[in-house]
Amino acid sequence: MKVENKTVLITGGASGIGKIMARLMLERKAKVIVWDINQEGIDKVIEEFSGFGTIVGYKIDVSNLEEIQSTAQKVFRHNHTVDILINNAGIIVGKYFSEHSTTDILKTMVINATAPMLITAEFLPQMLARNSGYICNIASSGGLISNPKMSVYAASKWSLIGWSDSLRLEMKQLKKNINVTTIMPYYINTGMFDGVKSKIPILEPEAASLTIIQAIENNRKLISIPGYIYNLTRFGQAIFSVGLFDWFAGNVMGIYDTMTDFTGRKKI
Ligand SMILES: NC(=O)c1ccc[n+]([C@@H]2O[C@H](COP(=O)([O-])OP(=O)(O)OC[C@H]3O[C@@H](n4cnc5c(N)ncnc54)[C@H](O)[C@@H]3O)[C@@H](O)[C@H]2O)c1
Repeated sequence: MKVENKTVLITGGASGIGKIMARLMLERKAKVIVWDINQEGIDKVIEEFSGFGTIVGYKIDVSNLEEIQSTAQKVFRHNHTVDILINNAGIIVGKYFSEHSTTDILKTMVINATAPMLITAEFLPQMLARNSGYICNIASSGGLISNPKMSVYAASKWSLIGWSDSLRLEMKQLKKNINVTTIMPYYINTGMFDGVKSKIPILEPEAASLTIIQAIENNRKLISIPGYIYNLTRFGQAIFSVGLFDWFAGNVMGIYDTMTDFTGRKKI
């Protein structure tokens, strides 16, 4: 989709790749709406980027359905028509499953998997009525491969991938001019996964964000970053026994130890 003059809503746009994607969209002359739980972060993004074009922000906790509905209503009242929705807000707990509290489990699933559906449910009706729109969901390579200390995060991202790519097929079956892109990045150096050690190079946020924006511009369907992760995992899982794939992913790719020293971003 050509993004110039389009209105882009980015959840989790106050930090990390969400913030970079906001700037990249403004540079392409799109109007940007940021949704984030972090008001200070929203204020900073607006201060830093308002010279690039039109950017507005709304404080919202996307794990709360009422807030999703009321904030969407505010967006409509302010006469914004969302052309492109990027469901990007996400969290990671980074512990063994047995160490998760029930709140950890629920929050991860709701923010990473349920919220993108609920937010899309607010904006899709207008897109369907206009027969135009774009939904981009930021999943993770964690949605392609099992990994210790990532079980709930993996569950949320597997879920997101399944919903997102099914939605793409539905739009096609309904012959709607609404594209859906599912993005599955490997680790990105944003702070979210601080402490992770990886044989496979950790991605730089700027380059990863640019790849996502280009995926939207080129109507891509489903991509991993780097691209080979998708083929390697899917192909390996298809041809190897589980034991052999475990050996390959654990010892050759080094995946299963990546989270051992995970700290995550230090709380401010
Ligand atoms: N960083 C990585 O290694 C990596 C790898 C693959 C996928 N991803 C995914 O990319 C997305 C962005 O990650 P990032 O690295 O930029 O992370 P980040 O922590 O820098 O940014 C996430 C943003 O989401 C916001 N957010 C969190 N909970 C929220 C809530 N309840 N309501 C509203 N906003 C909320 C945060 O305030 C923050 O601004 C996430 O979905 C993440 O799972 C990240």
